[in-house]
Amino acid sequence: MRLFLAIELPAVCKEGLAKIRSDIAGARWVPLEQLHLTLAFLGEVDADAAVRLGEALAKVEAKEFTLAFTGAGCFPNRHQPRVLWAGLSKELRLTSLAAAINAVVRGCSIPMEERPFSPHITLARLKLPCLREVTEFLASNSSIEIAPFVVREFTLFQSRLRQHGAVHLPLRSFPLAPA
Ligand code: 2AM
Repeated sequence: MRLFLAIELPAVCKEGLAKIRSDIAGARWVPLEQLHLTLAFLGEVDADAAVRLGEALAKVEAKEFTLAFTGAGCFPNRHQPRVLWAGLSKELRLTSLAAAINAVVRGCSIPMEERPFSPHITLARLKLPCLREVTEFLASNSSIEIAPFVVREFTLFQSRLRQHGAVHLPLRSFPLAPA
């Protein structure tokens, strides 16, 4: 099964992010219910390893923390944008959580990409977009007026690839300790 670990967003944040969508030719906006903050993408994992992973993740010790939205940005750059995202304030507890999860995943002998953790919420994927519209979107969302939210858990998701796109299925959530 294709797995990833992520932080789910409260409905109010998802609704706020849906409101900043604009008409950008070539943009495929992530459906509201799928907006999330990826902590680790694991790819294909067999069922036994997934069970071991769940047990090991339950032992991760981390405290709740607050995340604030910053502004919108894009990957890989403004000349050839492929992904539009919402940024989050730098939060040591988030980086530490991602590092702890990374260590657990490796400890379960599940290979992971070496990409450095770059916290973002993917808003849209772009295929030959209109650059003027992307530039306007980034300029008008250099800050995002959505209230900060408290992260109280992280979730192991299965991603099922379907013809119309991926379907994300929460398998198990792991609570963080009260701060
Ligand atoms: P992102 O949208 O936050 O960048 C589930 O597929 C999630 O895993 C995606 O939303 C994506 O996070 C992340 N991911 C990271 N690497 C991936 C890859 N090689 N293939 C698919 N998803 C990946």
